[in-house]
Amino acid sequence: MKNIFSKVAIVTGASKGLGASISLELAKEKFKVVLVYRKSTSEAKNVLNKCKKYSDAILIKADVTKNIDCLKVVEKVKKKFGNINILINNAGKTKFVQFKKLNNLNEKDFLDIYNTNVISAFLMIRACHSSLLKSKNPKVINISSVASLGLGSSIAYACSKGAMNSLSLALARTFAPEIAVNTISPGYIKTSWHGTKKQVLKKAEEYEKSVLLKRSATPEEVAKTVMWFVNCPHLVTGENVFVDAGLHLQS
Ligand SMILES: NC(=O)c1ccc[n+]([C@@H]2O[C@H](COP(=O)([O-])OP(=O)(O)OC[C@H]3O[C@@H](n4cnc5c(N)ncnc54)[C@H](OP(=O)(O)O)[C@@H]3O)[C@@H](O)[C@H]2O)c1
Repeated sequence: MKNIFSKVAIVTGASKGLGASISLELAKEKFKVVLVYRKSTSEAKNVLNKCKKYSDAILIKADVTKNIDCLKVVEKVKKKFGNINILINNAGKTKFVQFKKLNNLNEKDFLDIYNTNVISAFLMIRACHSSLLKSKNPKVINISSVASLGLGSSIAYACSKGAMNSLSLALARTFAPEIAVNTISPGYIKTSWHGTKKQVLKKAEEYEKSVLLKRSATPEEVAKTVMWFVNCPHLVTGENVFVDAGLHLQS
């Protein structure tokens, strides 16, 4: 379906999980969607086909930890669709290491996780910002985590998401008044991030027992919260919304 006047949104980490759901929500709302993924080609093609039922969409294979790849993504998007309206930095990684097992995390783990969760977002924003500045009320939405409070899969991951929150605040100041930069901090989302289907459901049950609202999220539910930022008036910037059933309130 061709929609020549609609807005353009880039989603990193779009091949599965939350990124796939965000891409689909954007397509349903008639955004032209750019799905960026690194290696899960068949999953990414599947998401592309779903998005194409609703809107224009393209797939770009790129490693967002590499500046050259980020620049190529933006060049391709400008050629195909013109200027960029929305950038969603969702690509992420972790290593599951219990906090007390200090010897199971090394310097490389920290750097790999920091590269994927923080530097990639900076590189993508740097590559996109002149195009974003040419569109009306552009927005960047960064996918962080409640782990930024010092929780989650590992100390390295918690630190990276804390850094991502600082990055969001710094960029909200830097690009005002033109670009709004906001953050979503999910708690447990039922995605393959947590392992096999069985493992995902088992960990979800444990999470649901422990949090205030007794729920864990589907990727579709978190994607709907992302869409709130996408559609909100140009009055909200530097915000961080926890979509975690209340985990951030617990000690
Ligand atoms: N799941 C949770 O419980 C949870 C909770 C809080 C926050 N989050 C955050 O939500 C985001 C999405 O998580 P998810 O659960 O949907 O994870 P996921 O299912 O494992 O998906 C991760 C996505 O990131 C992409 N990716 C990773 N490294 C990349 C790179 N260097 N370049 C390009 N793409 C890259 C992957 O692409 P390929 O597979 O193609 O490599 C994949 O599409 C992450 O930022 C995560 O930290 C997740």
